[in-house]
Amino acid sequence: METVIEIKHLEKAFNDIPVLTDINLELKRGENIAILGKSGTGKSVLTKCIVRLVQADDGEVLVLGNDVLRMDDEQLNEIRKKVGYLFQGGALYDSMTVRENLEFQIRRTQLEKNKTELRQLVEESLENVGLLDAINKMPGELSGGMKKRIGLARTLILKPKVILYDEPTTGLDPVTSGEISELILAVQEKYNTSSIIITHDIKCAKMTANQVKIMKDGKFYAEGTFSELCESDDQEVKAYFS
Ligand SMILES: Nc1ncnc2c1ncn2[C@@H]1O[C@H](COP(=O)(O)OP(=O)(O)O)[C@@H](O)[C@H]1O
Ligand SMILES: [Mg+2]
Repeated sequence: METVIEIKHLEKAFNDIPVLTDINLELKRGENIAILGKSGTGKSVLTKCIVRLVQADDGEVLVLGNDVLRMDDEQLNEIRKKVGYLFQGGALYDSMTVRENLEFQIRRTQLEKNKTELRQLVEESLENVGLLDAINKMPGELSGGMKKRIGLARTLILKPKVILYDEPTTGLDPVTSGEISELILAVQEKYNTSSIIITHDIKCAKMTANQVKIMKDGKFYAEGTFSELCESDDQEVKAYFS
């Protein structure tokens, strides 16, 4: 299987305070990795380093074989089109309808689309998340779960090869969280995408992930399949699964 993201010895500090000290990871085509860890351990920083929203200090990040830390801005823009990013919180533009939010995403990156193509893409991506009905709504009219879905539709519209999910189910009730986890799986199956899923939601990790990693002190403290980690004797690992 092809490797889509490879991270070696990644380091990042802010004001001399180390956040990432030695991150190593390999994500293969069609695979999902879930990352667990306490708040403030650097999970969001790690995902931002993958698309260089944060500039890492040292190490290597290879995305689809390209060296993200050392590429020029033009190459970086190409990579950012291929790597979808679902932010913590969704981050839709409040003053735009759902349709406008989605169209804006396409216009920002692909200028050549005509009106019909644009409409089709927007409708297809809303259908993927089961929310075509919400096309003319304002973000303020949507529930938390719907906002997450629209955020995912906006990510999917660029047909990314890789999706980075930062806490996709945080703040949602258990039923809606389950629906979002199912959607993550459906997207992976439909488009053969690969994903990194930052989550506190053990059910989400169980449902979606081929590999689970627990982050602590800037590194992965424990790694394995969900059932391997589930059976661990280590007290700190056990705490996540109890
Ligand atoms: N732009 C920044 N400048 C300074 N410190 C930051 C910045 N971004 C994150 N940090 C710090 O890095 C640490 C890890 O943050 P984060 O990755 O957001 O944690 P989490 O695992 O909860 O996602 C925190 O201590 C945070 O304050
Ligand atoms: Mg975070």
